Amino acid sequence: MSSEAETVLDTSHSHRAEAGKVTLTLEQLAEVQPGLAAVMLEIGGRFWRCYHAARAENRRLARFQLSEGTKLLRKAAILRPKYADDIATFIAEDLATLRDAIEAADWAGFEVAFAAMTASVNSLHEVWNHGYLVWRVDPEPPRDLVLEPRPEDR
Ligand code: HEM
Repeated sequence: MSSEAETVLDTSHSHRAEAGKVTLTLEQLAEVQPGLAAVMLEIGGRFWRCYHAARAENRRLARFQLSEGTKLLRKAAILRPKYADDIATFIAEDLATLRDAIEAADWAGFEVAFAAMTASVNSLHEVWNHGYLVWRVDPEPPRDLVLEPRPEDR
């Protein structure tokens, strides 16, 4: 056998993932990933927490929630590449404005940016034929998180 033939990759086997009590093929692993709608619910939760952290003027918490929401949006772009460009633009424009307001502790500016961001979300839902999904921030603050900044974070 020539050395060239020896280096050809063996593609006859499927890669497997060991997960404790079960061994999954990569295809099965992909199959059990959450769908976009499930990730969107989680994203909504992050932006809800971000909003109420900002209302409590808790810059550190608002920054954290925004960052986690942004990471989930990047995962959504991996799950559904057809949305990747729009998600990238949304992050670069709408979320950058939100981030700037948080960093500047410009809470009035944050309200304006958050309303603009919400309008962008719903116009993207419209563009992608999900216009019936009109998102809005829950006006009730989360009860599972202390929103007021700690003295050292003021
Ligand atoms: C802060 C940002 C966003 C929030 C809070 C949000 C919120 C939501 C919510 C609540 C749902 C319905 C989930 C359900 O009831 O199961 C949804 C679905 C959806 N969103 Fe968003 N969204 C955001 C950003 C985006 C962006 C940037 C895009 C497109 C580029 C997008 C496209 C979609 C699509 C296509 C669906 C339908 C899901 C599916 O096909 O399974 N969303 N979103």
